[in-house]
Amino acid sequence: MRGCERGDEAAIYGAPFHPGAFEKTLARTTSRYVCQNCGAAYPKWSGKCDACGEWNTLVEEQASESVPKGLGKGQGRKIEFVALSGVSKDAPRRMTQIQEFDRVCGGGLVNGSALLVGGDPGIGKSTLLLQVTCCLAQETRCAYISGEEAVDQVRMRAARLGLVNAPVALAAANNVRDIVASLEAADGPQVAVIDSIQTMYIDTLDSAPGTVAQVRACASELIRVAKKRGITLLIVGHVTKDGQIAGPRVLEHMVDTVLYFEGERGHQFRILRAVKNRFGPTDEIGVFEMSEDGLVEVPNPSELFLADRRRDITGTAVFAGLEGTRPVLVEVQALVAPSPLGTPRRAVVGWDSSRLAMVLAVLEARCGVAIGANDVYLSVAGGLKISEPAADLAVAAALVSSLTGEPVPADAVVFGEIGLSGEIRAVSQTDQRLKEATKLGFNRAIMPQPRRSRGGAGAAADGLRRVELDHLSDLMPLFQADAPPRPPRGRD
Ligand code: TYD
Ligand code: MG
Repeated sequence: MRGCERGDEAAIYGAPFHPGAFEKTLARTTSRYVCQNCGAAYPKWSGKCDACGEWNTLVEEQASESVPKGLGKGQGRKIEFVALSGVSKDAPRRMTQIQEFDRVCGGGLVNGSALLVGGDPGIGKSTLLLQVTCCLAQETRCAYISGEEAVDQVRMRAARLGLVNAPVALAAANNVRDIVASLEAADGPQVAVIDSIQTMYIDTLDSAPGTVAQVRACASELIRVAKKRGITLLIVGHVTKDGQIAGPRVLEHMVDTVLYFEGERGHQFRILRAVKNRFGPTDEIGVFEMSEDGLVEVPNPSELFLADRRRDITGTAVFAGLEGTRPVLVEVQALVAPSPLGTPRRAVVGWDSSRLAMVLAVLEARCGVAIGANDVYLSVAGGLKISEPAADLAVAAALVSSLTGEPVPADAVVFGEIGLSGEIRAVSQTDQRLKEATKLGFNRAIMPQPRRSRGGAGAAADGLRRVELDHLSDLMPLFQADAPPRPPRGRD
């Protein structure tokens, strides 16, 4: 692998690329080692990339080193500065009518923007983007350029999705020179999908398609043309762990919007998450359900995530979470079982394992709950990945419930962040969480005391009884069999 990935990056950085001008510049080239996972560059090869921690991802590439010249006086132009205040027009957008997708993009696709859709192979990126282009195609000239699949395969997918009649221009191509020429043509598309960037190549670079040099060069060229012509560019990028194919992370700074399409393989839910968006909020999610006929929007994900919930079983708690601007209720399941092993097992799906270790340590050290010798399994039902610290209290409740054999009240939602001293900390957007819980028929919320400065949660959740906890040890009395429920603190 080493030594055979010689890319001439002079063509990328030295000279701006334009069709018909693939000349190499006369820049001095040096060798460097580039991580194929994150794009970090090193002067020497090593087994591990210090930047991302991946092993065996450094590949030798040729880097141009343009000799810096002094910036002579009088060569630049004075920049026109403007005031911060002023009226700017909203960027024109195209709505796909797939509401989950439009919302994640910040209210539709912005003309002339570049959008990267990353995700594991087989997660459903091609299906999603085919559906998106077919929806847009009624009013916009759309092109779907596949470097992975033959035209027939894409047609077969379109037939399965019932989209064969959509006027999408379809092509199988890999050469960026050809794609650029097609995008620049007078009747070129207004929206173009590149599936995927790892299969595209620029023929003046020696590196194989999929290397960082190729991926970066292809993307920068396609984005340049898209910006010039006002084309909305949707780029697919695979994320792989083994470092053989360049992950799309090197592209993240080049594009305007980065969406990740994620989900557990065994589950039918798929979540589209905005991790960067120059034209809208990040952390917004769109939820889809996979079906025979393609991806189906899920307008109310909480209902779906709680659909299979069984009431009154131990070790589960309903977490009232927030994904972007949207409240999402999801079931957290825990199993605490005596371990036959010297080092008990800790297995987590859908949550951060170090966060679980912290909650376990706080339960042991601050509340005297002995979990140490048990195996602990934690799972977020439905394949959702939660990153909010507000899930701490729901996890703790599920753990204590599994350990004591007492279920968390079936009509209660739980949320709150746990501090290292065991204090329960207030979390943001309490109102929204409570509103969603009321909507789904919950009667109780086990939650932190509201921040005094904010004056607590408003009247949004009338009819919901609040069990406000100050310290994690306040949770224990809720699980003592036969004990009357602890009177809620604060307001009722
Ligand atoms: P695909 O869109 O090809 O994934 P990616 O482009 O991310 O590699 O989808 C993978 C497979 O899953 C494909 O065989 C089609 C199937 N699939 C469905 O049957 N229904 C769906 O809703 C989706 C999203 C995929
Ligand atoms: Mg695909």
